[in-house]
Amino acid sequence: MLSTLRIATRQAAARRVSSSLWTFQAARAASTWAKVPQGPPAILGITEAFKADSFEKKINLGVGAYRDDKGKPYVLPSVRTAEEKVIASRLNKEYAGITGVPEFTNAAVKLAYGADSAALDRIVVTQSISGTGALRIGAAFLQRFYPGDKKIYIPTPSWANHKAVFTDAGLAVEQYRYYDKKTIGLDFEGMVADIKAAPKGSIFLFHACAHNPTGVDPTQDQWREISDVVKQQGHYAFFDMAYQGFASGDTDKDAFAVRHFVKEGHNISLCQSFAKNMGLYGERVGAFSIVTESPEEKKRIDSQIKILVRPLYSNPPIHGARIASTILNDPALYKQWLGEVKDMADRIITMRALLKENLERLGSKHDWSHITSQIGMFAYTGLDAAAMDKLAKEHSVYATKDGRISVAGITSDNVGRLAEAIYAVKG
Ligand SMILES: Cc1ncc(COP(=O)(O)O)c(C=O)c1O
Repeated sequence: MLSTLRIATRQAAARRVSSSLWTFQAARAASTWAKVPQGPPAILGITEAFKADSFEKKINLGVGAYRDDKGKPYVLPSVRTAEEKVIASRLNKEYAGITGVPEFTNAAVKLAYGADSAALDRIVVTQSISGTGALRIGAAFLQRFYPGDKKIYIPTPSWANHKAVFTDAGLAVEQYRYYDKKTIGLDFEGMVADIKAAPKGSIFLFHACAHNPTGVDPTQDQWREISDVVKQQGHYAFFDMAYQGFASGDTDKDAFAVRHFVKEGHNISLCQSFAKNMGLYGERVGAFSIVTESPEEKKRIDSQIKILVRPLYSNPPIHGARIASTILNDPALYKQWLGEVKDMADRIITMRALLKENLERLGSKHDWSHITSQIGMFAYTGLDAAAMDKLAKEHSVYATKDGRISVAGITSDNVGRLAEAIYAVKG
């Protein structure tokens, strides 16, 4: 009797195991990720379309990276020399501290705020995974500690990744007026009105220079006014400076907004990238800093930045930071680098002028002055999505649908054909 009961119990247990195994296998057959939706194609879609085009004279103006006048990726000679020095010094490969290589971060802060800035001893800084990483650390810090609304205002339009970075870090994202379609320039009145209309103590993100995607920057006088309004409203200024030196060719001039705000008493946050100005794209060299009120506050914030970074990636990569640090701390190499940044900026400025000249020579009746008044790697042509589509399909010229072209992709060789293509679709 007892043994019959045992057998029945065992049989029931076996049935349960086999049925749960079946459910598990059925679920596996359907795949754990069956419900993950397909995302929209990213900007890389342009590169793919470009690669698939067999036309010999195709032009890719979608890439946000500098190219030399032959259209080739460019490694700065100062970077080559610095890298050789780093390798020759046969340093070890131990971990950096949580906030990175101090020789690099100290020099990065001086480059941004000015070596003579009165705020230098109140600035907390951490190395970051280039500019994007700096934004992500900044976003996480705001999300955790900002005493006001966890909401950030970004310009319309802004770098496509801003919204995603801040949203993923748990901040709400709103926009303020910035670009005026009609003038293909700055909507200064709209911008100031929106800053005034936001609830007191709001966070505003500003592109320090070479606004991406429009290439439209406020003038120094306009920055002074913006600083005043931000102060009046008790707002908090968060700067993204991904192009210092790349806009005008002068690292001091491009840091005007950042330095002016600090001089005016704003305890700003700042994201720096060395991707463009040192051409260190894939090395991922950047910094995130916060100007604090006092050395005591600096200590507290520094401790929290470390607590925040540790579970993100423990500590940053060292190689690129050593290259940047070698350049920034060696007077001769630093001088050479400043010249090379200027050469890159000048080539871009020359290509802008040539494009405008070529369009005018072809007889275009449009006003193309925005091509030369805008600054930095990108130009907002004012062409709409249909025109950009035509440029790609009929002329093998590839760029984003919003009419943004990377001026860094224009060369002495292709500028004539580019102007002809734009003239053909726009007149
Ligand atoms: C406005 C802006 N911010 C930040 C970045 C960050 O770039 P990275 O992470 O390569 O330094 C970019 C790059 O295109 C940018 O245009």
